[in-house]
Amino acid sequence: MKKTIFSGIQPSGDLTLGNYIGALKQFGQFQEDYNCFYCIVDEHAITVPQDRLKLRQSIRNLAALYLAVGLDPEKSTLFIQSEVPAHAQAAWILQCNVYIGELERMTQFKDKSSGKAGVSAGLLTYPPLMAADILLYQTDLVPVGDDQKQHIELTRDLAERFNKKNADTDVFVVPEIYVPEQGARVMALQDPTRKMSKSDDNKKNAIFLLDPPNVITKKIKSAVTDSSGIVQFDKENKPGISNLLAIYSAMTGESIKDLEAKYEGKGYGDFKSDLAEVVVGELAPIQERYEHFLASPELDDILDQGAEKAARVANKTLKKMENTIGLGRKKR
Ligand code: TYM
Repeated sequence: MKKTIFSGIQPSGDLTLGNYIGALKQFGQFQEDYNCFYCIVDEHAITVPQDRLKLRQSIRNLAALYLAVGLDPEKSTLFIQSEVPAHAQAAWILQCNVYIGELERMTQFKDKSSGKAGVSAGLLTYPPLMAADILLYQTDLVPVGDDQKQHIELTRDLAERFNKKNADTDVFVVPEIYVPEQGARVMALQDPTRKMSKSDDNKKNAIFLLDPPNVITKKIKSAVTDSSGIVQFDKENKPGISNLLAIYSAMTGESIKDLEAKYEGKGYGDFKSDLAEVVVGELAPIQERYEHFLASPELDDILDQGAEKAARVANKTLKKMENTIGLGRKKR
């Protein structure tokens, strides 16, 4: 039997090259060999304030983008989290099995809440919702970027903890994380010690997947490097060029070593021009397909069918969870 993959992306702002390299680019490659579920996690997005009209639009945009990068709805199940109520139901049960201390230790919670007044309880209880997403599908593998590692570790702990409650059979498969070899943490172009992020105030830090070619080229050409002019991977001392090398390698599949050899004796100018061509060359066709899917009526049919298929699988696990802890009457 095929193994199962689950991953999700928040519809909160425009997606970056980091989201693409760390997650989206992988998704299409798995669909031949795995049973894949890809989710638009809108319930995660509302852990911070959102504008209702913008959120609606971002959900649709993300669905079109999933299809544009090559997800085939015949092979992968594509759906919106809030359209499968089992996610919120399972998340509640998992919230009752996680300790507040565990949630307070999450670095993402610390980053997003520090210095802010009026932090929502949802921001704290975000990880058990993410665990519910994953565990409901009996997921074997979760492809994500480096920043989600801690959440996946907690998901594994919660799965093991819950399985112990049930003496008969395991309720959940305990999932493994999958991070890409290159590009698991794409850094900001103007400050390569920080992660490239959708929510960065300085828009020069991120390449957005829908940036026009001339903007992408300009952002790459003005990326911060160093004064040595030697194309060499050295994260500590040359974080800027190392980040660009990692992006190049992730986009083309060429190893860092081969790239260093290819650009030996050449300056950063040549390297950056070629990298811009590589990125534009990969994103331009995605942008074209994106426009097509966004305008196409089939988008709603795909999301309807995806939600139905996802709910069938998720409800089965939810029933098992409820029976394990004695909620309601015994479900058959
Ligand atoms: P989100 O929406 O912030 O990001 C989506 C995916 O993009 C990856 N990513 C990056 N990868 C490399 N370099 C970067 N600079 C970079 N920035 C983002 C993220 O690691 C992620 O894989 N909590 C998740 C969404 C989620 C989820 C899930 C993921 C909810 N439920 C279940 C997997 C399984 C998040 O906020 O991702």
